[in-house]
Amino acid sequence: MSAQPEPHTAETFPPSADFAAQANATADLYQAAEGDREAFWAGQARDLLDWAQPFTETLDFSGAPVARWFGDGRLNAAYNAVDRHVAAGLGDRVAIHFEGEPGDSQALTYAELQERVSRAANALTELGVATGDRVAIYLPMIPEAVIAMLACARIGAPHSVIFGGFSAEALYSRIVDAEAKVVITADGGYRRGKPSALKPAVDDALAKGTPVEHVLVVERTGQEVSWTEGRDVRWNEALEAASPEHTPVDVEAEHPLFILYTSGTTGKPKGILHTTGGYLTQAAYTHRNVFDLKPESDVYFCTADIGWITGHTYVTYGPLLNGATQVIYEGTPDTPEKDRWWQIVAKYGVTILYTAPTAIRAAMKWGEEFPARNDLSSLRVLGSVGEPINPEAWRWYRRVIGAGTTPVVDTWWQTETGGIMITPLPGVTAAKPGSAQRPLPGVSAEILDDNGQPVPDGGSGYLVLTEPWPGMLRGIWGDMQRFTDTYWSRFPGRYFAGDGARKDNDGDIWVLGRVDDVMNVSGHRLSTAEIESALVSHPAVAEAAVVGATDEDTGQAVVAFVILHGDAGKGETEELMAELRGHVAKEISPIAKPRSIQAVPELPKTRSGKIMRRLLRDLAEGREAGDATTLADTTVMEKIMQGLKR
Ligand code: WTA
Repeated sequence: MSAQPEPHTAETFPPSADFAAQANATADLYQAAEGDREAFWAGQARDLLDWAQPFTETLDFSGAPVARWFGDGRLNAAYNAVDRHVAAGLGDRVAIHFEGEPGDSQALTYAELQERVSRAANALTELGVATGDRVAIYLPMIPEAVIAMLACARIGAPHSVIFGGFSAEALYSRIVDAEAKVVITADGGYRRGKPSALKPAVDDALAKGTPVEHVLVVERTGQEVSWTEGRDVRWNEALEAASPEHTPVDVEAEHPLFILYTSGTTGKPKGILHTTGGYLTQAAYTHRNVFDLKPESDVYFCTADIGWITGHTYVTYGPLLNGATQVIYEGTPDTPEKDRWWQIVAKYGVTILYTAPTAIRAAMKWGEEFPARNDLSSLRVLGSVGEPINPEAWRWYRRVIGAGTTPVVDTWWQTETGGIMITPLPGVTAAKPGSAQRPLPGVSAEILDDNGQPVPDGGSGYLVLTEPWPGMLRGIWGDMQRFTDTYWSRFPGRYFAGDGARKDNDGDIWVLGRVDDVMNVSGHRLSTAEIESALVSHPAVAEAAVVGATDEDTGQAVVAFVILHGDAGKGETEELMAELRGHVAKEISPIAKPRSIQAVPELPKTRSGKIMRRLLRDLAEGREAGDATTLADTTVMEKIMQGLKR
């Protein structure tokens, strides 16, 4: 791991007495969990969820590393997220304030949500989807995205949401891996002031041959779409034809709720599997305590897309399980102007905002005049997720967006953990800018050295989770061996997160970033191997190496080094490099596009043929290359440098 500057720990931000006095979570929560962790989680599961059949077992880890939580209980996720609030007389509460990018808006109450989810569940059943069948969802950030997820959950059909920015190629491999029977998509969505098509990518993916039988198409932009009779079905027509009544299917607590693909260290994305009872417990518990949610008065706004885990846990499940009112926004923060989010905060009186450091850094760059134009005084809790937040951005967030008074919670977690794991509690913790600080009550984390020993305060090493937690992944879809190898073999019996971390002298945790071949670009996880294989699939490229270089705006940026075939690129390198960047966008997604691609004569490799990315990262970050003595050919770095200087 590279040396990190000593984090600044002098200044802390304790909650105000007023905030602490009204907070859902007090210091007692840590004590409650310490005594009997399992009993603590069982209590949360009972308090926060309604069980069709109550559980009597809490945790069974005899099949480790696959855990069973609340194993003999039965429940339905959509019932818990929607119906029970209606049954409790809260049907008129707004569940979703939708703000479209062009300025259209729509409010959906819990009662309306119940009706739409029920109709959609009936429509899916009509299309032949049964409990256990997989459904792929490829939608923009519109209410139908949440409705589609809940409709799947309602019939016990695991959903696999694929981010709308992914290419046809990426969509195809995910559909095939999960063997999805139906795809739910839209004609398109609005992005940066214009309609952006989605349906053509689905058509292209399915043309390659998949198990998909039907495509449900939401009309959002009205743009023209090609239509395959018999396969394609209009969402609106299917919902209108369906009954508004539907009885949710109660499933076992360990029934799969969803698969979500994320990047790993190989080229093949991992289908992270989450089940029902444990995941929902973690979602509801963390959302209520970390954001101090008061469902009767708060207006919550999470800027994540449902294509990512944050959108699953903190747009769809957490807030709705807790009966919250939330805002969903379709577009980008700078459309039509750079104060769009702040306008939304003012318009809806948003009280809790959850976003990513990369967005905060962008807003800092745009300038304080944009937030200053809007009344942000409703805000009372701010959250950050997705990558380490630099202390400067943390301070700006609190000072400019939070009026210098709101708690800021820096939440560390992963697709695999299902929900937040390490974070300050807003009414308890004296926050330190840049540190995620402490495991939540009920969660156990450690930082280990190379030998698997916990590091002392002041030391750094590998972040691990030492006890099972309800929201933990239950495996990698179709590849349980990879599940064991990736997470449980580095430190047997403990979950290896893939992040490096440091403990300061108070024992607070500072997450430093990935220690494997996963990059974090604007909070998006990307694998070096996946981008390398996209590059070599282009006829001009013989070999490729990709590294994540530190970037002021995006945290890390993709930097690629390629060896070109024979005459490729002679005299027109710039054009070819642009073409290669476009090729990566087409194969994976525009978010994976390299910031730069450099043609090199050779790549630095060890004698066993492993690319020494560390040396390339030195180059990409403009440093003198480090120790190169383990290279098979120690002159390679010189050759590369000479080539780059030309
Ligand atoms: C990084 C996103 C530092 C980390 C919820 C992790 C963070 C990866 C933080 C997971 C944070 C997330 N501080 N790093 N507060 N939150 N990360 O699966 O490297 O998209 O392993 O889940 O993001 O990314 P994922």
